[in-house]
Amino acid sequence: MHVAMIGAGYVGLVSGACFSDFGHSVTCVDSDARKIDALRIGRIPIFEPGLSELVASNVAASRLSFTSDLALALQEADVVFIAVGTPSRRGDGHADLSYVFQAAREIAHAIRHYTVVVTKSTVPVGTGDEVERIIRDTRPSAEFAVVSNPEFLREGAAIADFKRPDRILVGSEDERAKQVMTELYRPLYLNQSPILFTSRRTAELTKYAANAFLATKVTFINEIADLCEQVGGDVQDVARGIGLDKRIGSKFLHAGPGYGGSCFPKDTLALIKTAQDHGSPIRIVETVAAVNDQRKRAMARKVIQALGGSVRGKTIGVLGLTFKPNTDDMRDAPSISIIAALQDGGAVIKAHDPEGVEQAKMVLENVTYVDTPYRAAEDADALVIVTEWDAFRALDLQRIHTMMAQPVVIDLRNIYRPAEMRALGFRYHSVGRGLAEA
Ligand code: UDX
Repeated sequence: MHVAMIGAGYVGLVSGACFSDFGHSVTCVDSDARKIDALRIGRIPIFEPGLSELVASNVAASRLSFTSDLALALQEADVVFIAVGTPSRRGDGHADLSYVFQAAREIAHAIRHYTVVVTKSTVPVGTGDEVERIIRDTRPSAEFAVVSNPEFLREGAAIADFKRPDRILVGSEDERAKQVMTELYRPLYLNQSPILFTSRRTAELTKYAANAFLATKVTFINEIADLCEQVGGDVQDVARGIGLDKRIGSKFLHAGPGYGGSCFPKDTLALIKTAQDHGSPIRIVETVAAVNDQRKRAMARKVIQALGGSVRGKTIGVLGLTFKPNTDDMRDAPSISIIAALQDGGAVIKAHDPEGVEQAKMVLENVTYVDTPYRAAEDADALVIVTEWDAFRALDLQRIHTMMAQPVVIDLRNIYRPAEMRALGFRYHSVGRGLAEA
């Protein structure tokens, strides 16, 4: 089939490349001509493991191409995806749908034959109705159907998540459109990935419900971790103990500094707004968002307490800046709030991250970036592990100990074990494992 993918960002580029890898003919469209030029010479604007190779092989096989000309991309398209950004609107948390509606208007002008228009971006309930209205009003004679097909891709694992999804969710009650979507996803369907058909609004809401539930699960174990520090429990054992219950499941029960990224913070806020706007507030998710915000600042206090109550004039090494490993994405990364709070307390920050430094430079100030974890530890009064990159999991701890001004480690991702660290002479603090040290 012929697919047009509008938006060559995290979602659009991964989805477009994977569809072309299934054998479909895909044209990725982006209004940013520089991004299109870069993609045409094989330069991928985002860090996503495996994406560069996937794009290159499908461009070489003439199944994947890039253009800024949406009308051209739609000439042969059976399906056009809207995979543009839906950022949180400044100040009020509603999703900014201006890029979605602009794409809808351009699609309306470009359609030449029956086309399935798919919202792949995460959009509030009812957006598909609005997209349909815009296209119908712009081109009353156009033959089309609007379908919701949310993605469930994790950054850093996006290609695997696309090719081996737990489910494919299609929101449509139009039989012809459902046939087209079944044909489009046939390669996955044959691999046993279930296709779930719901109404369009149900599919839109399901996407938010999924992310809000995952954010709730993470926040739940984070609060259990805080309680563990008061009662002397081990949150990793609690997570194992509840996670073995198949009704709970073991994933997303790793306590840490709070969730970040381009999705959980934005999607929880958008769901909260939708629910409030419809007079049916989701109070659990409102609490999750508030607790998560407070947690990032609380992590800075944990560091300050580990250094006796003040970090003024202290040098602090930070390992990991990105919101999670295997990405360069700094959006809503806990490191941003943590570093700002430590700097407010007078600390001097040195930081190392395998991939995130370029993005970090755009959001952090007065940070010295170093190219290895050991340089971050050198002469530091404390070393704080904020992101659980694999590169931090087997450090030469003896060497770290000798390089530091003070052997204080605050491990916000529970990468190391308290007993081992203390045996090596570190004053070791982590999240939810035993009584919090004064
Ligand atoms: C998420 C959803 O997982 C994905 O399905 C959706 O399509 C987009 O949003 P992503 O934002 O890439 O994906 O990251 P994810 O791996 O879900 O982690 C989100 C945040 O939760 C990160 O800050 C991560 O550090 C945190 N997290 C996750 C935890 O703190 N503990 C966990 O156990 C899992």
